[in-house]
Amino acid sequence: MISFSEEKRIFTIHTEHTTYQMMADEHDVLLHLYYGRRSEGEMDYLIRRRDRGFSGNLYDAAADRSYSLDVLPQEFPVSGTGDYRRCAMRIELANGSVSCDLRYAGYEIRRGKYSLPGLPAVYGDASAETLAITLKDKWGSGVTAELLYGVLPEIDVITRSVIVRNEGAEPFAITRLLSANVDFQSGTYDVLTFYGRHGMERRLQRERVCHGVRAIGSGRGMSSHQYNPLMILASPETTEDAGTCWAMEYVYSGGFLAEAECGPFSQVRMHMGLMVENFRWPLAPGEEFAAPEVIMSCSTEGLSVLSHHLHDCIRGHICRGKWKDAVRPILLNSWEGCYFDFDGERILGLAKRAKELGFDMLVMDDGWFGKRDTDTSGLGDWYVNEKKLGMKLSELTAGVHELGLKFGIWFEPEAISEDSDLYRAHPDYAFAIPGRKPILARDQLILDFSREEVREAVYSQMTAILDEAEIDYIKWDYNRCISDVYSSGAAEQGTVLHRYMLGLYDFLEKLLGRYPDLLIEGCSGGGGRFDAGMLYYTPQIWCSDNTDAIDRLLIQHGTSFGYPCSAVGAHVSTCPNHQNGRMTPLSTRGVVAMAGTFGYELDPGRMTEEEREEVKAQVATFRRFAPLVAEGLYYRLTDPARDPDAAWLHVSRDGSEALLAAVSLEIRFNPPQRYVRLKGLESAAMYRVEDVSGVEETLTASGAALMECGLPLPVYMEEYRAVQFHLVRI
Ligand code: GLA
Repeated sequence: MISFSEEKRIFTIHTEHTTYQMMADEHDVLLHLYYGRRSEGEMDYLIRRRDRGFSGNLYDAAADRSYSLDVLPQEFPVSGTGDYRRCAMRIELANGSVSCDLRYAGYEIRRGKYSLPGLPAVYGDASAETLAITLKDKWGSGVTAELLYGVLPEIDVITRSVIVRNEGAEPFAITRLLSANVDFQSGTYDVLTFYGRHGMERRLQRERVCHGVRAIGSGRGMSSHQYNPLMILASPETTEDAGTCWAMEYVYSGGFLAEAECGPFSQVRMHMGLMVENFRWPLAPGEEFAAPEVIMSCSTEGLSVLSHHLHDCIRGHICRGKWKDAVRPILLNSWEGCYFDFDGERILGLAKRAKELGFDMLVMDDGWFGKRDTDTSGLGDWYVNEKKLGMKLSELTAGVHELGLKFGIWFEPEAISEDSDLYRAHPDYAFAIPGRKPILARDQLILDFSREEVREAVYSQMTAILDEAEIDYIKWDYNRCISDVYSSGAAEQGTVLHRYMLGLYDFLEKLLGRYPDLLIEGCSGGGGRFDAGMLYYTPQIWCSDNTDAIDRLLIQHGTSFGYPCSAVGAHVSTCPNHQNGRMTPLSTRGVVAMAGTFGYELDPGRMTEEEREEVKAQVATFRRFAPLVAEGLYYRLTDPARDPDAAWLHVSRDGSEALLAAVSLEIRFNPPQRYVRLKGLESAAMYRVEDVSGVEETLTASGAALMECGLPLPVYMEEYRAVQFHLVRI
């Protein structure tokens, strides 16, 4: 609920459990007052001013030396106002100076949640509202910022975006633009970020916000393996179950910046938006620029609830289309089973095995198009290599469909190999700076998707294939970072990286418009573009190229802070694992992959009969619990980086049922008994606890006991054993 009090010009946003408040003060500056636990009343009493040495005063407020934006908490701080902290926006005026002094000019409260042209954004239902606050530069440049707040009260989410307009007579340029900023007046905070690398994405790091700036971001033209566009601030005592914490999650797949700054007066500023490096957006009179959206959420009950808000937002208000709420097909992907070494018969052979094992879909990964027997050639030539397949694609897909399976196929639409017909015909389609040789990565270049004719060259090839053969699923891959950014289509090179993202989103929107039933799984060398922006188009994303179940525990644990299980592409692969050589029991690989969309990535023909029987049982188990995994509340029960067990829990919304999964990470002779304490159960209720594999004895215990004392875990004589317990309320 959004309200405005005329007298003090205070804006209040209430969600079910949180309150957000700001005020247009006597100088028309929009001050931030409060974001936290739901509370009534006006919080302007929190603002205390003092004359601060070396903190400048706005000219029209200078009679009062205590009025300085260097210290006051602001809603949207801009560069050039005497606030020397990191700002949300920086404007370069036509004369080259950096200046902007935004003052409050009006507001509007709208029913429903705003959308953003050409950009992915949260969508709301009947209860959603929008607050738009307009700020204008006091000194006549025509710089106008419309701050947008989208309110989803039931899930304690407030989204932020800003539309910058040039309402003046001269051009100016935006050189820094962050969509959301929150100034905390007081308090000590921890910051949680998610760092990583290819094959080890989204590792949790928690540290105190000290004086100075803690920044993460990506200048790679993609949200990146290295830092995920998710930042959480938490009061230091915050745990999974208690304490106040705040999240910012970017609905964008390109470069980003997120900062937590502790200033000289120990105030903390947190913000998120576009990467500053390589960004410069000129605005001519009459033009406007919409900043990508940030999802904000606050929990006063610890990190689990914060994650639940983000999961609900992504599942219910970002993901779209037919597959949004559907249980996703159990798939067999050809990559780790065959790599580039296959023909149509081998794929059909995989499909037959997949059918026998009870899967839903066969996915033919990289290698079916152009000249593509290694990763050094062929990207850009999206025509079927019938010689290699030994058949037409339509014959292959018909064969797979006849078996009663769906058919999926791999594309990497944004990439191009120098050794390709498309490159030979149009070398200028790839990013490269005139007169220089570009950086190569995996021997490939990136297509300039900011240009429509370049997108069209790929779109027409893709649609020809999708029209010819019946294709149910696409794995949309993206296997390098952008470099050598230069576009012949852009007058200002600082716009290219964002135009690229707009081009990508436009492509995906068009494709889904044409094939609304298509399921697209995002991928970028695994999880290099695992973000809420992509999830608007692709409701699941291949979480990591690392399929080792034990490494995956860390990756999926970090991912779970911001993203629901239904978004996490997870497969069982063979052993020794191809990425790190580790041996793990097949049952453990199954349990870990079941915390995601579930599938296999191996050649079932190389399995023993006994293993194939085990796989059939895994498929049955996953089918049994798939809705609970996808829709239930997810609880992290341990920290797999520290604890001797990795354990997590899916609890149905009504508390009647739960699925516990635990993987043993430590074996010892004569060990102490280990217990795992459950969460989210009904204290007063009794639960029947049954080992899904039927080995452990069934027991009955109260919700309270299971949460207070825990459940004893089996003691193993073998490394990395896993167990699943099904709990049913009696
Ligand atoms: C990337 C993907 C893999 C696989 C290969 C194919 O690395 O993440 O899953 O599709 O490309 O080249």
